[in-house]
Amino acid sequence: MDIENDVLQEAKEAAEKAEDSRALYEAKMQFLGRSGKVTALMKRMKDLAQEMRPAFGKQVNALRERLEGFFAEIEARMKEREMEKKLAAERVDVTMPGRRHGKGTLHPVTRVKNELIDVFAGMGFEVFEGPEIENEYYNFTALNTPADHPARDMQDTFYLTDEFLLRTQTSAGQIRLMEKKKPPIKMLSPGRVFRSDDDATHSPMFHQMEGLVVDKGVTLCDLQGMLDEFARTMFSETSKTRLRPSYFPFTEPSVEVDVSCHACGGKGCSLCKGTGWIEVLGAGMVNRRVLENCGVDPDVYTGFAFGMGIERIAMLKYGVNNIKLLTENDVRFLEQFKD
Ligand code: PHE
Repeated sequence: MDIENDVLQEAKEAAEKAEDSRALYEAKMQFLGRSGKVTALMKRMKDLAQEMRPAFGKQVNALRERLEGFFAEIEARMKEREMEKKLAAERVDVTMPGRRHGKGTLHPVTRVKNELIDVFAGMGFEVFEGPEIENEYYNFTALNTPADHPARDMQDTFYLTDEFLLRTQTSAGQIRLMEKKKPPIKMLSPGRVFRSDDDATHSPMFHQMEGLVVDKGVTLCDLQGMLDEFARTMFSETSKTRLRPSYFPFTEPSVEVDVSCHACGGKGCSLCKGTGWIEVLGAGMVNRRVLENCGVDPDVYTGFAFGMGIERIAMLKYGVNNIKLLTENDVRFLEQFKD
């Protein structure tokens, strides 16, 4: 009988039609499955004469083996083809350039803060940071500003409770440090401060940099010498400072410090409103009452303090005319401060 070759031929035709491994598996089952052709042939054995059976059985077994071999080969080829297709579809171009991540940049306020710290650290100042939530004592009372003092009206304060408030000035740090440390003191205190104030040059939250020097024989000349150095580093090599009388409860005498205009060199322009000078900070000799409040003997020690708005310095330095630009964090604005 040539059943073997016929069935093999049939299997070949069925396998050729199969387009994927699933269809191929189904084709294989038609021949080798439990109810496939090979099983059906085996079942026919019982209809044969006894003596025919061994030869027939052998033949069917040979057929099964050939079919198994045939399908195994075709399956392997099909798998290979499918893998090639899959790899082609999922092809990764390893030579493609990667996605670039833009390099970040320090915020102009952080940048100015760091520059200020650099200038004063070079003169031996240490950085001290006080808390943003203060009590009335450190923010006002110890700074010679008692509850009924009219100077408390100078700043619109955010009170949290009767006692606690968001600090309106980093000057509170002067008291905290002097309570901890005996002179000589050279302190620099950067931080956020809060005031109910909101327009193009004022924001309810801004940053200050406080300076405090306490030692024997400290004078206003020392203050101006250090501020001259600050002005030259921050603005221009030819910058000068000028002190004008002013008033703060915690300094006596108090001064307002102007820096010669770096845009026009002092001739007068729109930035300095024609005066040649720009007001940049408040300062003065530490009021003896403040020293007493902190247990420092004002007959032995003297000191000066200054406080400046970091945003204000950044705005002057970079020509920014609206303080809101510094908090909106529009990347197009911030990108301009790349190195
Ligand atoms: N604390 C003052 C202010 O916020 C600035 C200042 C600091 C003045 C230190 C004198 C001495 O306006």
